[in-house]
This record gives sequence, structure tokens and C-alpha cells, in this order.
Amino acid sequence: MALLVWIVAGLSTVHTTSAETRYPRYGCGKGLDSFPFCDSKLPVNKRVDDLIKRLKLEEKPLLMVARLAPLGNISRLGIPQYDWGANCIHGVQSRCGTGSDGQDRCPTSFAAPNLLGATFNESAWWTMGHIIGVELRSLWKQGKGENHPPTQLPPLGLDCWSPNINIVRDPRWGRNMETPSEDPFLLSRFGVQVTKGLQEGKEDKGRLQAIVTLKHFAANELEGTWDGPGGPAQFPGTGMCPGKKCTRHTINVNISSYDLASSYLASFRSAVVEGGALGVMCSYNAINGYPSCANKWLLNDKLRKEWGFKGYVTGDSGAVADIYKKHWFVPSMEDAVVKSVEAGTDVQSSGWPSGHPWATTNAEYLKYIPALVRDGKLSEQDLDDALRHTLTLRFRLGLFDDPGSQPFENFSEDIVRSSEHLAAAIDATEQGLVLLKNLKNEKAMKATLPISQGRIAVIGPHATSRSELLGNYLGQICPGEKQSFACVESLYEALGNLSKDVTTAPGLPSISGEVDPKLLAEAVATAKNADHVVLALGLDTSTIEQEGRDRHTVTLPPGQLELFDAMTALKRPVTVVLVNGGMVAMSSVKEKADAIVEAWYPGFFGAGAIARALLGHTNRWGKLPVTIYDEKFTDEFDMLSFDMSKAPGRTYRYFTGQPLWPFGFGLSYTTFSLKLLGSSSIKVSQQGEAATVNVLVQNTGTVAGDEVVMGYFLPKNGTIPAGRATLLRKQLFAFQRVAVQPGMAVTLGFTVTAASFQVFTDGGDGVSYAGKYTVLFSTGNVDVPLQVEVDGPQHQPAVLQPWHAPSRISGTSSIVV
Ligand SMILES: *[C@@H]1O[C@H](CO)[C@@H](O)[C@H](O)[C@H]1NC(C)=O
Ligand SMILES: *[C@@H]1O[C@H](CO)[C@@H](O)[C@H](O)[C@H]1NC(C)=O
Ligand SMILES: *[C@@H]1O[C@H](CO)[C@@H](O)[C@H](O)[C@H]1NC(C)=O
Ligand SMILES: *[C@@H]1O[C@H](CO)[C@@H](O)[C@H](O)[C@H]1NC(C)=O
Ligand SMILES: *[C@@H]1O[C@H](CO)[C@@H](O)[C@H](O)[C@H]1NC(C)=O
Ligand SMILES: *[C@@H]1O[C@H](CO)[C@@H](O)[C@H](O)[C@H]1NC(C)=O
Repeated sequence: MALLVWIVAGLSTVHTTSAETRYPRYGCGKGLDSFPFCDSKLPVNKRVDDLIKRLKLEEKPLLMVARLAPLGNISRLGIPQYDWGANCIHGVQSRCGTGSDGQDRCPTSFAAPNLLGATFNESAWWTMGHIIGVELRSLWKQGKGENHPPTQLPPLGLDCWSPNINIVRDPRWGRNMETPSEDPFLLSRFGVQVTKGLQEGKEDKGRLQAIVTLKHFAANELEGTWDGPGGPAQFPGTGMCPGKKCTRHTINVNISSYDLASSYLASFRSAVVEGGALGVMCSYNAINGYPSCANKWLLNDKLRKEWGFKGYVTGDSGAVADIYKKHWFVPSMEDAVVKSVEAGTDVQSSGWPSGHPWATTNAEYLKYIPALVRDGKLSEQDLDDALRHTLTLRFRLGLFDDPGSQPFENFSEDIVRSSEHLAAAIDATEQGLVLLKNLKNEKAMKATLPISQGRIAVIGPHATSRSELLGNYLGQICPGEKQSFACVESLYEALGNLSKDVTTAPGLPSISGEVDPKLLAEAVATAKNADHVVLALGLDTSTIEQEGRDRHTVTLPPGQLELFDAMTALKRPVTVVLVNGGMVAMSSVKEKADAIVEAWYPGFFGAGAIARALLGHTNRWGKLPVTIYDEKFTDEFDMLSFDMSKAPGRTYRYFTGQPLWPFGFGLSYTTFSLKLLGSSSIKVSQQGEAATVNVLVQNTGTVAGDEVVMGYFLPKNGTIPAGRATLLRKQLFAFQRVAVQPGMAVTLGFTVTAASFQVFTDGGDGVSYAGKYTVLFSTGNVDVPLQVEVDGPQHQPAVLQPWHAPSRISGTSSIVV
């Protein structure tokens, strides 16, 4: 069925990916100009209202589904097809484009977001967002489909289902690689910058370049499967996970107003309020009894009314059906549809049977909406609201204006993977590798890294990895008809390209494989013949951590630890390069390795960036945007608990234990000193006078390097009243990244206001108290303190972000939070 519609729609063929595919992309034009909605001079809201008035009931749901077949066109009114589903987590997730020379040009692929978080560089995040927006425009114009092998797909729309700004709540979560941090402030900055870069084009200030879709709103920080409390899998779903199996589809998490406001919703709020994000994806899970896509309080009261959101909401794929079939929140699928539309889920992406990704025969919106409206169970007004949200964006993208007058339509096919875009991806990759250990050999009077001479043996299951370096959510990576990763450089090749004498051996049959004596012996022999061992260990996204699948252990697979022991026994310097999303507990590696590089999923340019860093060609390390806990983690933390401050406390903000490496940590080949310029204690007033604090960063070593200066605050005892916020150990409120030449110093100005010290009341209000604070400026290695006194009435906080509990804002939603 799906295939049929496509061919009729004029797509050349489903198999030819390099051939240009053309289909109508713009509404209006030829013979349709008399419709008021086609009049570019009218305000968008008038045009949208006019168009909605002309739609028949049966036509409306066609405009409310994603990844669609039928294609969402209303040809009688000249409305072209539009796919609301495209992913762009770290690059446009499409098939390759075709350049002006007829050659494939595959979308630029950045490192996975966990590496991007480690760059602590807002400009790098904006730049990635911008490049994705530009490439999406060009690939959309070329009619390229989403990359979803083996079945190939409808042409992209101009909305990205990204960024993922859920917090890294727990190392076991299977999607940690998709999101940059455990810290809501860092995540907020990432969300704001990616949003602005992607949505606001340079060439046309009046129109949107593209649209983000922040996900997953909210608290989708567990994939599954975990045994959990719950009643039978039937209506009414009771317990935390009906059916007793907790997955992202069944879990109903308890989250306090305090944690929602200060941790789980904070980045979404910033990306909407400050970044102007125009899309949000509601998540599979339920919060405090309400599945996200049926949660009117979340999607309407909070998002639209409080935050002023002006965009569209899509359900995650299959989330509308989950309201009935997984949460058993309502007695029928029809009721799930009513609840979703009423809550504000404007677009439905249905689950698809495997092998038929685009058949939406089971799209519940298409199936049930017309009859529900005719039977008086769903108001047509609610449908029109949903259409208003989506159509407004299509107009703001310029899709009902003359394409000839639009600069974004002018983007060349050669802009995809342009040399400038590739350079930006390489640049960002270099900034996010984190040097965790670099032992100094006292006899040789030098550190393990950089490797300056001698033979290097690249050992381990990731020594020759290609696709495994890339993370998840990938567009087509290498040119050609078939999915291939042959064009990705491996670490072995990258080192071999830069250093004369490099050998390799896998040491293990696979990432999780048990030691095979023959492979181990070969690795030992290879390493013995070398002066330096680079041991590439870690996880993967195909068998260990992935969407839909959490890790149940946070350690390295046992075979890798055996290989590690065999390598360290050889008495040669061993540098461990770790490839992973979720953090790995590795006490013995910390103790016995000579050097450790946290490489995350470093992406298409990852191997080269690692090789240059290991050899000292670059010195641009990042800092940990997450806490690395030790092996006790799994005993101490309940995967099903979303309480942040409950002992021993999640993330650096609350954790009372001793981490293996703390948030913000990261070394360099040079050393830096930090100095406060000016007084070591300042006053600011609650009325808003901002102070600028200057911090001098000096490169006291002998090589050039990048450094990150982070600003944290902690209230002094007595400043904030009793409540969960007193459990905060410190909170990041500012950071800057800077490059410093050896012997040189750079002054960084940090703005400090009373509002910098926002904390949250147990009731969820974001507030700032008068009183005394310690501010720490930190490189992760050196801290300098600053004492700050905020003048103002004691215990009468300035309310910066009032929290509206459900009952206070809307009579129709009645969640108790
Ligand atoms: C959408 O376009 C296809 C192909 O041109 C056409 O067959 C179909 O009737 C259109 N759908 C609507 C609702 O106009
Ligand atoms: C931050 O990223 C930008 C790219 O957007 C880059 O030009 C700049 O050099 C980076 N800053 C540092 C200190 O690395
Ligand atoms: C969730 O909160 C409700 C209401 O406070 C409580 O009854 C229930 O036990 C909690 N569930 C879990 C798993 O903490
Ligand atoms: C598109 O590019 C052409 C050639 O550079 C230029 O002449 C034209 O003004 C551009 N159109 C728009 C709308 O920017
Ligand atoms: C690196 O080496 C591989 C072979 O090991 C070669 O195919 C590739 O072109 C080289 N890349 C660079 C950037 O030199
Ligand atoms: C904080 O102050 C209260 C009373 O002002 C005192 O009882 C308590 O011991 C203090 N706590 C610390 C950690 O100093």
C-alpha cells in the first residue's frame, strides 16, 4: 500500500537513491492564487485560518500524521505532501544527496552528542545546529528520504526530531550517547544553541530555515527492560509498570515538582523560552499517572501557556497507541486518540510493522478521528487547534510562498558536506575528547602521552572499528547504493597515517566476547613488539547500549578486562581509549592504565581526532559533562527511581559518594593557572545589578592548549531555607572555553547576578535568595573561590520561574504532582 502511493506520487523509484527525486514541495502557485491563504501579503494567522476553513473533516487527519503514507497532501487545494518526521541528532539522518557533479554527497556527520557536551563550547553547538539546518534544506529540496535501511523512505520534511535534551540520569540508560550531559544548565545551553543555529537561517530573517523537535518530553530516561511493580496489563493500568515489565512504554515515573522543575524540564524550558524552539516530541512514558502525549498539563498548560511555545507537538512513534495498549490509561484506542488530541499532540507518528516502516494503516489518527468528531466525542475545534499549530510552521517555513523569492531555496546541492561543514565537524570532535589520566614516568621525566616515538600496537575490540565509532541515529555515511561504513577511518588506520610504525591485533573475538587464547596470544605478541600499546576498549550501540535497551551492568565486558590485564602485564605504557555512551565503571583501568582517553562515540572524524591527540598534534581536550561512578553504582542506585536528591544522590549536583572521576574533570598536555582579578568577595543586589568577575587563565606549560573555565555556586549554610535544594552540592551556572598559547594569559569575564544563583523550592518555584554564596571558578583541576553576598530581604526570595501546579492553572487537567 505504502509503496503504491509513492510511485503514484512520482518518486522515481524506491531503490535508486542517487537519482533526483522530485515532487511538489510548495503550496499555492499556478491557478491557486485566488485563495486568500495563498496571499503572501496577509499575516500568517489569517492565511492559516483561511486554509483550515477550506478543509473537509476527512482531510484534516491527513495533515496530522508523520512518516506518512498517504503522503499528507490535499491536492484539491494544492497542499503538497509533507513528512513531519526527520531525525538530525548529530547530522541529517537522510540518504546522501547528489552534488552538481552527479556524485553522492552524504550529510555531514558530527560526533555523538555525549562528545559534543564535553566540548563545553556553545559556539560549536550553534554551528552544528546551523549546518544541520542548511544541509536539511538542500537535502529536502533534492527529495532525499530518511535513512532507514533496508526499507527506504519518504522524503524528509524540514523539522528535525532533535535535539535530545533528556538528562543523563543514570549510566545504564541506553540512550546516553544521544544527549550531552547530566547537568540541566549545560543541557539548556546546548538546547538553546542547537535550536537557534538550526531554526534561524542567516539568509532569510523573515522565515524559518528549519525546525527542531525537542525530545523526549519528558523524563524518558529509561529504555528497559526492568522488573517492576504493576498490576495486570489491562485497563485500568495500575502500578508503576502494568504487566510488571518496566520499559519506556510502560513506566509511570513518580517525579516531584522539585525534580521536574530543576532537572527534568529545565532544558526544555530554556530551549523554548530562550531558544524559541518550535517543536517538541512527547515521550512514551507516563509521569505521575499521565502518559506524556495525553498530558494536558504538560503539553498545554506548561509548554504553551507558561512557556509561550508557538510550535507543534509530535508523539514519539507509537506513543499514542501506548496510551491504551501499554499504559492502559483509557479503555479503548479511540479514547487514546481523544486524549492525545485534546492534550495537544498535534501530530501522530504511528508504530510500524517491521519491514513496512511507512505503512500507516495503523495510524490511529487517520483511522478514528473522523468518526470521533462525527459522534461528538472529539471537538473539531481541537482538531483545528492542532492544524493551526502545524500549518503555521509550514507557512513560516515559506512553503506556501513563491519559492523563486526565497534564499533558502537557493542552497546548492554542493552545500551538503561542504569543506566548511566538514571542517566544523572535525573542529568540534577535537574539542570533546577527555584526557582522564596521563601518568608521568619519573625515570623518563615525561608523561605517557603524547606518544613521541617508537612502534605503536593498536589492540582491542575497537582497534579497527568503523561504524562502532559513530553512535546512533545515522544518516547515510558512505556513498553508494548499499549501506556501508567502508569510508570511515579506524583508529588503527588513523594512527598509521600519522605515525610510521603501527601494528594491530583485536585481542578479542568481539566487544563482549570471551577471551580466545589464540587471539590473546597474538595480541600479546603484537604488543610485545611495540613500544607503546593503545588499547581501544568500550561499548557499542548494536549489542550493549541502544534505544530500547538499557545496560544492566556498568562495567566493561569481562573479556575486555582480561585483555587489559594481559596488556598491563607487559610493562609497556598502555593508553586506554574508551568508546562508549553510558559511563563505564573501571576502577582497575583507572589504577593500572598509564593513560586514559574518554572518546565517547567520537563520530566520522573520531579516529583521526584521537590519533592527532595521542601523538600531540593537537591539545584541545574537553571536560567530563557527566560523573563517572565506580562499580558500586548498580548496588546503590535504583533504576526505577527518578528522585535526584535521594541518597546517595544522582549526578554531581547531589552525589555524596566518591566518583571515579567527577563532573568537569579533564587533563591537558599543558598546565593552567586560574586567578581572580579584583576582590575575592563581591556584593550584588537582588534588584538585578550585574557584576562582572574577571578570571585570568594562564597557560603555565610549554604547549598551546584549550581550557574550560566553569562557574559553580553553592549557597552558604543559612542562605536557603530547609528543603531539597539544601542537598545541592554545587550547581554550574556559567562556562567558557578558551585557547591559550604557552606563557600567555587570557582574561575571561563572567557575569554574576542574583539570578545566577537560582535554586528551586520543594514546590517547584525557581527562586533566588538573598544571602551568602561561594562561587567556584574551576578548570576541573584548579578551583578559585569567590565570596558573593546577595543583598535583599532574608528568606523572601525573588521568584524567577513560578511553578504552576496543575490545579492552579487549568480546571480540566487534574494531576496531583
Ligand atoms: C495525494 O497525492 C496522490 C498522488 O498524486 C493522489 O493520488 C492523492 O489523491 C492525493 N491525496 C489527497 C488527499 O489529495
Ligand atoms: C569553539 O567552537 C568554535 C566553533 O564553533 C571554534 O571556532 C572555537 O575555536 C572553539 N573554541 C575553542 C576555545 O576551542
Ligand atoms: C508514586 O507516588 C504515589 C503517590 O505519592 C505513591 O503512592 C507510590 O507508591 C509511588 N510509587 C513509587 C514506585 O514510588
Ligand atoms: C539566488 O541565487 C542567485 C544566484 O546567486 C541570485 O541571483 C538570487 O538573487 C538568489 N535568490 C534569492 C531569493 O536569494
Ligand atoms: C589513511 O590510511 C588508509 C589506509 O590505511 C588510507 O586508505 C587513507 O586514505 C589514509 N587517510 C589519510 C587521511 O591519509
Ligand atoms: C547550619 O546552620 C544551622 C543553624 O543555623 C546549624 O544547626 C547547622 O549545624 C549548620 N550546618 C552546618 C553544616 O554547618
